[in-house]
Amino acid sequence: MTNEPRQLTLAIAKGRILKEAIPLLAAAGIVPGEDLDRTRRLIIPTSNAFVRMVIVRASDVPTYVEYGGADLGIVGKDTLLEYEGDGFYEPLDLRIAPCRLAVASQDPGFAALPRLRVATKYAAVTRKHFAQKGLQTEIIKLYGSMELAPLVGLADCIVDLVDTGNTLRANGLLEVEQICAITARVIVNKATMKTKHAVTVDLLQQLERAANGPA
Ligand code: PRP
Repeated sequence: MTNEPRQLTLAIAKGRILKEAIPLLAAAGIVPGEDLDRTRRLIIPTSNAFVRMVIVRASDVPTYVEYGGADLGIVGKDTLLEYEGDGFYEPLDLRIAPCRLAVASQDPGFAALPRLRVATKYAAVTRKHFAQKGLQTEIIKLYGSMELAPLVGLADCIVDLVDTGNTLRANGLLEVEQICAITARVIVNKATMKTKHAVTVDLLQQLERAANGPA
């Protein structure tokens, strides 16, 4: 028996990841104590007395976890690739919210342009991807609706998440290249792994079992 602290704060990315995480968390015995569609509370207790949730923007999840504002986080691999930090562990792929990070354009011949203008919210990933191909890029940083940029002449192509491909199709864009497959991951604060080891490992095992589905 140890005296280590047992309360864990779990930061979850708003939107699709949260939606898909809720059933998985329920299977791991963690049900929010409030109606998430209605509550204005920012810290949500759960049915597991040792776990409370905070629901934040995806790009803020790594920050909360790295600096200890949350012990664990559930966030997309896209956000982690862009964050580029190593201030946390990434022990588990929940395999929820699957999609891909891809390059899309109206014109499949766009790569022949001397200096590409690429609209994206993934500036670091995009710069690295095109640099590896020896292509010079000017990154146009956007925060949403990337698909609009080529349509109004703001960019030659975009780098964005693609799931069904419906948004690209609806806007006459072609998926020209897949950069990588994306799923939601669990990240853990490094100090938490030491100071709350037993309860953290226990939660990770429950989440892993839930992600693997019924035996
Ligand atoms: C994401 C992504 C695409 C769309 C892809 O946007 O940025 O726009 O989903 O999905 P599809 O291939 O199934 O059409 P989201 O709706 O999550 O909003 P965002 O623009 O704020 O990221």
